[in-house]
Formats: sequence, structure tokens, C-alpha cells
Amino acid sequence: MDWNSNVRPETMERITTKAQAEAYIDELVEFTRKQVGDKKVLLALSGGVDSSVVAALLIRAIGKQLVCVHVNHGLMRKGESENVIEVFKNQLDANLIYIDATDRFLDKLKDVAEPERKRKIIGGEFIEVFNEEALKLEGIKFLAQGTIYPDILESDGVKAHHNVGGLPEEMDLQLVEPVKLLYKDEVRLVGSALGLPDEMVYRQPFPGPGLGVRCLGAITRDRLHALREADAILREEFDKNGLAGKVWQYFIAVPDVKSVGVKDSKRYEGWPAIIRAVNTKDAMTATIEEIPYPILHHITDRITHEVDGINRVLLDLTPKPIGTIEWE
Ligand code: XMP
Repeated sequence: MDWNSNVRPETMERITTKAQAEAYIDELVEFTRKQVGDKKVLLALSGGVDSSVVAALLIRAIGKQLVCVHVNHGLMRKGESENVIEVFKNQLDANLIYIDATDRFLDKLKDVAEPERKRKIIGGEFIEVFNEEALKLEGIKFLAQGTIYPDILESDGVKAHHNVGGLPEEMDLQLVEPVKLLYKDEVRLVGSALGLPDEMVYRQPFPGPGLGVRCLGAITRDRLHALREADAILREEFDKNGLAGKVWQYFIAVPDVKSVGVKDSKRYEGWPAIIRAVNTKDAMTATIEEIPYPILHHITDRITHEVDGINRVLLDLTPKPIGTIEWE
């Protein structure tokens, strides 16, 4: 096997069993130890499937020579940064640097309502925080990335050669991309074989800018907090009612609009929480999953009673096209 090639050999079997995943892990571990020697490897660990599996693989191969940096941009779903710390630091004993950059991101995003500008600020700030941290470290010679085979196929290999983190050139890092020839389902199997929890390996896709594109318009801390709490209730109820495995992506969006309501016999102005639950194969088109009304009523009841600032719950019935999956 040529581990440097960006072309998946025709002879490479599709990984469909635990035994195959373990064989892949063994080979990869051996190759990585030779490639890296006694040097250090840096990884931006978002908590998404690909970077989590890369982290677990490299921990198996080189232990504390892997330095994981988890940047919490303040736009994570409820409990996700905590989960990264629990799994990687506490359970896998990783060399993990946790940076809570919430204030930096939210200060930069203050009063910015335009979606593409929000995305650019979040992406740019992420690179800055990560670079600052990388420059403080010594002896880093490699940068690990969670490139997977569809990334290579979709970008003619461009992304794989690209330093997507945008790290300073003087660092002169070589890439380590241990799952670059694998399809997503194979990455998940490898992750499971490495002992990662299902909630991490079968995690829904989550946009890089996180809740930033679901807290619509200019983000405020109170509305972001309401969104995070409502989203946590939605996920909890989908889990409890067996919908989590049936629906590809589901989340809450909260627009910057208030309506009048009544709470405790008083006028109560609040934002609406919009439920989006879609099924798709490739995210290019998406259909609407039917959610039983009793579950919707229960979710509405919980969100409107438990989440400060929310006084209505709406359901988005729009397929893609014409609506994109995200609202921004
Ligand atoms: P749309 O909204 O375009 O989303 O129908 C398709 C899929 O892509 C995700 N998405 C993003 N992922 N950065 C990401 O990493 C982004 O800026 C972004 N915008 C959308 C979305 O969640 C869906 O899975």
C-alpha cells in the first residue's frame, strides 16, 4: 500500500467489518510510527467525525507526540466541547490543548448580520486562534488533517495538498492524513474499532461555523443561549423517540424576530424556535421527514416552558431545493 498516494488503489477492499477496520488500523499505525519518528504532530480537533477518528488513530500510533488543539468558538452545540474533553483528555489521555475563544468570536461577530461575512469572520478567527497556539509549540513537524476520500475526489486533490489550516509557511509542516483514502462509512467503522463512542462516530454533520449560522442575523449572547438550549431539547427528544437514527440532520434555528405571547398571565415577547429535520444522501437535495404530531407537541411544550426567550415553535416543511438545509 502506498500511503502517500492520493489515489485509492483498485485492489483496496472496502472496509465493512470490524476485522477489516482493525487490519487498517494496524497497518496505519505502523506506517505512521515510521513516518513521524520521534517528532510531534499537530491536529485541530473540532469534535467532528473525521478529526475525531484521526485523533484516535494517531493517539494509538504515537500517543502524546500528537498535540490536539480544540478551539471552542462559542458556537458549539450544548455539551460538545465538554464531550471532546471527556473522550480525548479523560478517556484517551490525549495531549489536548483546550482554548475557550468564545469572547473573541462573539466580540468580532457583534452587530454582523450578513451570513457570508459571519462565515468569513468565524473561519478567519479560527485560523488566527489556531495559528497563535501552533506558534507557541515547539518541535512540531507535522500537521494532521481529517481529509477523507470524497474531499480528494471532489477537489481533484487540491484540498489534500492544501494547508487548509493556513498555518504560517515558516513552520514548514508536512501533512499526515491517515484517512484520506477512506469513505465516510469506513471512517466511522475505523472510529468504532478504535473505541470512540457512537455519539461521536455517528454524529450528524455540523457546519464549521456551528450555531453561528443558526442564530440568524446579528448574534446576541441571549439568543444564542436560547438556541443552544432549544437545540439540546430537540436532540434529546429525537434520541428518546428513535428519530435520531432515522433523520439525517436536525436542528433548531432562531431568527432575530420577536412575537407577542402570554406567560404566567403576562405579556411575553419572545423569539420563535424553528425545527429543521431533513433526510438526504449527499446534502445536494433533501426531503422532509415526517415527525409524529405527539412528539412535536411534546417538543413544543418543553422548549416553550424550559427555554428563556422562546415563545413559539415552528416546523420548517421546505425541501431542498428550494430551501437550503441551513437557514443562512
Ligand atoms: P446547505 O445549507 O447548503 O447545507 O443546504 C448542506 C450541508 O452543508 C452543511 N453546511 C456547512 N458546512 N460549513 C460547513 O462545514 C458551512 O459553512 C456550511 N454551510 C452548510 C449543512 O449543515 C448541510 O449538512
